[in-house]
Amino acid sequence: MTAIPLCLPKDITAEQFLSEYWQKKPLLIKQGLPQLIGMFEPDDMLGLALEEDVSARLLTQAATKQPNKSQWQLKKSPLTEADFDNLPAQWTVLVQNLEQWSPELGQLWQAFDFIPQWQRDDIMVSYAPKGGSVGKHYDDYDVFLAQGYGSRRWQLGKFCDENTEFVADEPIRIFDDMGEIVFDEVLEAGDVLYVPPKLSHFGVAQDDCLTFSFGCRRPNLMQIIDSLADVATQDSSLFIPMILPQSLQPSGELQTDSIEAIKAQLLQMLESMRGDDIIRQAVSEVVSKRQYDALVPEETLTTDELMQALAEGAVLQADYSNRLLYSKFEGEVNLYANGQRLDEIDKDAATLLMRLADGESLTVDDVAVVDPDELMEWLENGWVWLNYPA
Ligand code: SIN
Ligand code: CO
Repeated sequence: MTAIPLCLPKDITAEQFLSEYWQKKPLLIKQGLPQLIGMFEPDDMLGLALEEDVSARLLTQAATKQPNKSQWQLKKSPLTEADFDNLPAQWTVLVQNLEQWSPELGQLWQAFDFIPQWQRDDIMVSYAPKGGSVGKHYDDYDVFLAQGYGSRRWQLGKFCDENTEFVADEPIRIFDDMGEIVFDEVLEAGDVLYVPPKLSHFGVAQDDCLTFSFGCRRPNLMQIIDSLADVATQDSSLFIPMILPQSLQPSGELQTDSIEAIKAQLLQMLESMRGDDIIRQAVSEVVSKRQYDALVPEETLTTDELMQALAEGAVLQADYSNRLLYSKFEGEVNLYANGQRLDEIDKDAATLLMRLADGESLTVDDVAVVDPDELMEWLENGWVWLNYPA
């Protein structure tokens, strides 16, 4: 299996990208992802958009804005063929979480291995005929916009912030004014444009066009606090009422001093070793959660068929529609899959799962140390997929 080269211009190292561009400025990577060329045709994505379990959106744009009427219409999945009848000239269909439908496409995340797996969100495709777009907008996340088919003209403008005003009464967050245009180029199949968070961008299909967004994510404090509460409620010692100093006070008042004393004990607990454990567990659960429900595999192999395929040269690889990651602390390794810590894994299996999480492919010789039934479970859980040699 040949390794996928990093998606970076020849004269920019991964370290340089992270320090100079990541979350700061855009970067065009000409032919950064040539593997996408010929991988999919527009019809493949239109077909996928109609699948029952897919997360898709159809966005249509009226040619002109009528008074008291929104110019854009948004229809969320499930989509039917009838939704594609009588479309206006300009429309776009978006399909999320493509790694779930194509592990081969998911594997292209390895071109972005300088971004840790837990900060990857999903691969979304947009299909639009000539003139289609999703309007001028910004995103809160970093995104690599990879052209897969046809061409799209991308314009980049100013950085936005919480004061940026969106066009009123439209179903999507768009605006008219992108400020000074700092980039204006047509991307051809295989080209990639990195867009940092909050940078305004506008992409217009030049012809039948597929654009693949490799979107990133970062947890927010709301998720962490929510997870902290979940983890902390497993710790029965935290149910014991606190000892609080008491001063004479009006019986109806809850004094600031009391709140401060409670806050101090809360912070002290978070700062303690127990707090470290709770925070580590809470963060690991949040960042290893999948955003979309898992699909139940349609067909499963028998254990014998799995071992036979491996013996014939197939390899096991991490399935990037699932989250498999590990953290290390004081010599101890914890593995997580889809929001849960894996507690029943022995050392050999853990070593293999760590290699998979790091993007390695495992051959029949690599997996010989693990019981075939356990490998079967990994496959059934969706953590791995079987990649057959071409
Ligand atoms: C698109 O592919 O048209 C939209 C992707 C994006 O702007 O993030
Ligand atoms: Co965008």
